[in-house]
Amino acid sequence: MDRTLVIAKPDAVARGLAGEVLARLERKGLRLVAAELRTLDRETAARHYAEHEGKPFFQDLIAFITRSPAMFMVVEGPADTWKVVRTLMGATNPAEAAPGTIRGDLGTEMTENLVHGSDGPESARREIGIFFPALAG
Ligand code: RTP
Ligand code: MG
Repeated sequence: MDRTLVIAKPDAVARGLAGEVLARLERKGLRLVAAELRTLDRETAARHYAEHEGKPFFQDLIAFITRSPAMFMVVEGPADTWKVVRTLMGATNPAEAAPGTIRGDLGTEMTENLVHGSDGPESARREIGIFFPALAG
């Protein structure tokens, strides 16, 4: 089995769509392993998005992801589960994401794109370690 980190971002929780995000992952066949609703502090948010530090959108991204509670989840499935989640999420920009995807069906704006998913096995390992250290290993 393979695990990856998913976040129903603050916009999804505020709009009452956290359950919708999780339901789509579960209907696909992925299993929920851990979940927690929490408001991120800036330090943890910057650690999570360290790869984007210094980019023009970084400050907006940190302000967004820390503004209100988000739902952090670990899901489990077959090999390359991170890829399954990324396919369900759709393109980063909801305006360009395909219909049928979470972002394509539920969003319109770049920052407010509802969901995060680890972008590879190494990211999944690192991100699960940040938010669910008890599951790391
Ligand atoms: P995420 O990490 O949140 O799952 O999103 P992603 O992999 O699809 O996209 P990524 O390139 O990692 O970007 C992280 C988040 O930063 C915002 N962003 N804004 N204005 C821009 O050009 C821009 N590019 C990225 C988005 O909110 C994206 O989810
Ligand atoms: Mg990313």
